[in-house]
Amino acid sequence: MERVMRVTSTAVMRDDGKLIKVVQKRGQLFICAHGCCCGKTERGFASVPEDLYHQEWERRKLRNKVHLTFSACLGPCSLANVALLIFDGTSTWFHSLNTTEQIRALYDYLEARLLADVPLPQILQECVFDGFLPAERTAELPAPAC
Ligand code: FES
Repeated sequence: MERVMRVTSTAVMRDDGKLIKVVQKRGQLFICAHGCCCGKTERGFASVPEDLYHQEWERRKLRNKVHLTFSACLGPCSLANVALLIFDGTSTWFHSLNTTEQIRALYDYLEARLLADVPLPQILQECVFDGFLPAERTAELPAPAC
């Protein structure tokens, strides 16, 4: 039985004064597909199967829950193929997402996360890296000069 989830939204006043309804999602999945390395088979990297990402996203009816974005470079190019998942306010970086099995596991995980706080499956844990400075380390940084 499919669990029904309410779609929530917020109204945002655009610069021209028009009120725009914005669906508030749980997350966003960024797939680097148009950068210098990810998906560039001519450079020796695995392809990025955009059709598979999109089909799985549609098939699982994630449109109003987790947005899917195919992007240009996300930064850590030599780790191709790179993805960034922002979910419930936390970010998870992935590298070497090269197989159909990994991509389906990512979507299985997303579907499960929508219902409960589940751990990443092993097949994806092997692909995780810290793409952002951990919050506890930012206190060590010097204050910006004004
Ligand atoms: S080319 Fe994918 S992160 Fe730069």
